[in-house]
Amino acid sequence: MHPMLNIAIRAARSAGNLIIRSLQHVEHLEVTTKGRNDFVSDVDRLAEQEIISTIKKAYPDHAILAEESGEAGKNETVWIIDPLDGTTNFLHGFPHYCVSIGIMVKGRIEHGVVYDPLRDELFTATRGAGAQLNDRRLRVTKQKSLENSLVATGFPFKYHQHFPAFSNMVSTIFPQVADLRRGGSAALDLAYVAAGRVDGYWEIGLQKWDLASGILLVEEAGGVVTDFIGGNGYIEHGNIVAGSLGVQQALLDEIKPHLTEELKK
Ligand code: IPD
Ligand code: CA
Ligand code: CA
Repeated sequence: MHPMLNIAIRAARSAGNLIIRSLQHVEHLEVTTKGRNDFVSDVDRLAEQEIISTIKKAYPDHAILAEESGEAGKNETVWIIDPLDGTTNFLHGFPHYCVSIGIMVKGRIEHGVVYDPLRDELFTATRGAGAQLNDRRLRVTKQKSLENSLVATGFPFKYHQHFPAFSNMVSTIFPQVADLRRGGSAALDLAYVAAGRVDGYWEIGLQKWDLASGILLVEEAGGVVTDFIGGNGYIEHGNIVAGSLGVQQALLDEIKPHLTEELKK
């Protein structure tokens, strides 16, 4: 295993343990609002500090991009961290959230870790070396079309201006699939595509830390990831469509007609 992946796993596990320990006092947590429907608690911040201090011990010169503390340092290697993806779930006691760490080297994601502390599921990927769940190799599903497929998505709950376009997408996709899922953790949605638990996934307006690890998991599990115009602007713009080859293309075909000017990237 690559030494950087090893450190990412150590950091994700120790943040995950911190999140689990904090469950006992979740109702007493002080919660602040960063933006519309965008909440943060001490658990997010402490988990992030835990991750950063683990990374810094091993790689003091590497740069960090973390959701709660922002950018630190300048280096060709950047650790992209979401200490708690699924904060709304966490704060409500809805048991579905994770820690996400992606490692970008010279502008390309090379390693990714998504850790679900409740199920003790560790999703990992290194470019060119495949994706794993615990010790099992992951493959996306063989599903070729939307018919009978299970597709995950996310509501644009922080960006209500995109709701009409999202709702149009749902209107054309929903009648064609077996069902849709809204889990509330983008990193787990992508990990579940990689694991073949859903056939595809799309969401509007994610941040780099939501998707850095998950996109590599999907690609290394044999899946496809694009933005809404079929390009690779998803890290920059946060609009993402992922899935097995056939399902990803079918979703993209259904999404394209509903794009507003702002979403054409
Ligand atoms: C959110 C979750 C959610 C997605 C949002 C993200 P957070 O991350 O991934 O599923 O719909 O767009 O912001 O705020 O819980 O880290
Ligand atoms: Ca997130
Ligand atoms: Ca978060």
